[in-house]
Amino acid sequence: MTMKNTTRRNSFARSLWIVFAIAAMAIFMIVLKNFFFSMGNEPSITALELQTSSPSSDLSPTSRPAQIEKTKGPAKTEDVLILVNKAHKLPDDYTIDLATIESVKVDKVLIDDLKAMRKAAQKENISIRMESAYRTKAEQEKTFNNAVSEYVKQGLLRNTAVERAKQVAALPGYSEHETGLAIDFSFEGHAEKQAKMWNWLRENAYKYGFILRYPEGAKHITGYTYEPWHYRYVGKQHAKAIYNQGLVLEEYLSGVGINGV
Ligand code: DAL
Ligand code: ZN
Repeated sequence: MTMKNTTRRNSFARSLWIVFAIAAMAIFMIVLKNFFFSMGNEPSITALELQTSSPSSDLSPTSRPAQIEKTKGPAKTEDVLILVNKAHKLPDDYTIDLATIESVKVDKVLIDDLKAMRKAAQKENISIRMESAYRTKAEQEKTFNNAVSEYVKQGLLRNTAVERAKQVAALPGYSEHETGLAIDFSFEGHAEKQAKMWNWLRENAYKYGFILRYPEGAKHITGYTYEPWHYRYVGKQHAKAIYNQGLVLEEYLSGVGINGV
């Protein structure tokens, strides 16, 4: 009887250990998988991102003391300088006068400069296409959710996918696209044409009032990784100053004392 009990106890303990070992192994594999996904190759998120080439220069000034968290303040200034980022939500009562150009909508204020810029580029055989411009809050939500789904499809756990999506897409209410002042450009033709276009935009867009909004090396201020396609209209005077000083919008607004930052 005692022998039987001991044998039963031993076999129960063995089974418990096997179950425990399998569970531990499964947890370890899941953790390992997510670790490699977050540390390893950046999963692609949109066709547009896959198209991008590495930049030949960036706009990072030598020192960038500001952090995005420190730039909190009222979002609304003169409209063309409105600051919308992870810390500045677009006011719910924000109104826009929209104009349609080809398949996208933009704030009317930039339409002439946009046309002039595309015409100037075309003279150099560069066709600048517009992939996405004004987005409603609902459309931005869709954009964000699509980014999350894409990362989930690539194997990330949902929470990790959401965190990763936040690095490339704004949450609804927090996107510049909702102002009608931001445009994602795209290119026509081969890869080398694409590089030529990003370079042209980087060097010339300011002449038409546009700034490269998310340059390399400024994620700690802008909240986003490098987006060679995302340009923001601020008007010629501000764009020239921002370009010449190698600033991002947050830094420029801190410097000029707008937004109470
Ligand atoms: N990709 C930019 C950050 C946006 O979604 O507004
Ligand atoms: Zn964009």
